[in-house]
Amino acid sequence: MEKVEVIRSIYDDQFKILNSILNLHMVETTFEVDLTFGNGGFYKKGIPEPQHRFDIDDTLPNITKACNSNNTGLSEASVKSVIFDPPFLTYIKKQRTGNSNMVMSRRFSGYWTSDELAEHYKTSIKEAARILKHKGIMVIKCQDIVHNHKLFCTHAHILNWSSEYFRLKDLFIQRATHRMPAPNRKGKQKHARIFHCYWIVLQRWAK
Ligand SMILES: C[S@@+](CC[C@H](N)C(=O)[O-])C[C@H]1O[C@@H](n2cnc3c(N)ncnc32)[C@H](O)[C@@H]1O
Repeated sequence: MEKVEVIRSIYDDQFKILNSILNLHMVETTFEVDLTFGNGGFYKKGIPEPQHRFDIDDTLPNITKACNSNNTGLSEASVKSVIFDPPFLTYIKKQRTGNSNMVMSRRFSGYWTSDELAEHYKTSIKEAARILKHKGIMVIKCQDIVHNHKLFCTHAHILNWSSEYFRLKDLFIQRATHRMPAPNRKGKQKHARIFHCYWIVLQRWAK
């Protein structure tokens, strides 16, 4: 009998996760909509680019339309799959002025407060639910964060925010391989240092 590689829930490589999601949960070879296309990093190793490539940053060269991910203009129940890779909490204020060279402090690349993140994530999940057909797939890449000794558990919030429209279909963990653990700056360590992000696979489902 031919041996087929078992798909696991944890990988170091985002392309293994993307291909696993496509194999397990989708008939098509790519997503129909990318709400936060950026530089198209997901499509550098053979996965075809989506038909609808959206991003709020109108300077990006390869997007089909500049728009907020919570207002795509697509018709209701018109697409089969959506991927959403939004910025995460950075608490870096300089992004507002764009006067820093740090990737995380550029325009549109982080939220200063958890309320700001919540508003964008919630409204984008609602928009994805609006444009997806019944049983359509939404994939969200996200990361939890510890700041000022407090854990902001992004992935748990997403599960809450999406439960009105989606059911959880699968969950992958991507391990960070090349992040060096910075030493504790002062005092005793209070939280586990985060070395992973999540890929949440949701399925559109009316309650
Ligand atoms: C983590 S990056 C996405 C990276 C992308 N997946 C890639 O591999 O190149 C987040 C993207 O979200 C975009 N973004 C931030 N706020 C947005 C919003 N309100 N609506 C749409 N896109 C937004 C940013 O411009 C940025 O390109």
